Amino acid sequence: MMNVREAIETRRSIKKFNGKPVTKEALAKIVEAGTWAPNHGTREPWRLVGAVGESMERMVDAIKEVAVPKWRDMSEEELQTALAKFMLPGAVLFIVVPEDARQKERLEDFGAASAMIQNMQLAAWEMEIGSCWKTPPFIDHPKFRSSLGIQPGERIISMLQFGYFDEAPKAKSRKDVDEILSYFE
Ligand SMILES: Cc1cc2nc3c(=O)[nH]c(=O)nc-3n(C[C@H](O)[C@H](O)[C@H](O)COP(=O)(O)O)c2cc1C
Repeated sequence: MMNVREAIETRRSIKKFNGKPVTKEALAKIVEAGTWAPNHGTREPWRLVGAVGESMERMVDAIKEVAVPKWRDMSEEELQTALAKFMLPGAVLFIVVPEDARQKERLEDFGAASAMIQNMQLAAWEMEIGSCWKTPPFIDHPKFRSSLGIQPGERIISMLQFGYFDEAPKAKSRKDVDEILSYFE
């Protein structure tokens, strides 16, 4: 079992998956870890729409429908290659948060859902499943939102891809603590 510090430091965003399927059982374990994230008032301000196994194809169909501008000029073959990349992760979760009309609550809810995502990424990492938090513009597209059943007043904050991988990328360096931490004078 990985300790927390090790998981935090070694986790990398995985962008090249090897195509091995992720089971619903593994995904449920990951989501369950996510639910332990801190959240104000135990509002648990999140819901998730997933794609795994056969439903990955339906997700790709929904993505195709949004007609990303650069896809319009592609030949059918190029388009299929572009869309095939969405099939390489073994599973995908769309994380949906309520957009509370009150600014403070809205920020808290987005913060809590982000903590939930990090929990899931770390839990997956321990299971040797890589992940990447992605925010492609189509997550706000009305057609795409509607195909996922997103209601007015809800927002998708992440397309979270999960999958097995052969190689993790090198870490990008982070700022020194001295650069970001100051104390009351
Ligand atoms: C809010 C958010 C949005 C992100 N969106 C994307 C994205 O659209 N595409 C992508 O390749 N990576 C995306 N990432 C992943 C970052 O690129 C990645 O976390 C960063 O490069 C640091 O790498 P690491 O996670 O391996 O430490 C996103 C991360 C966050 C937190």
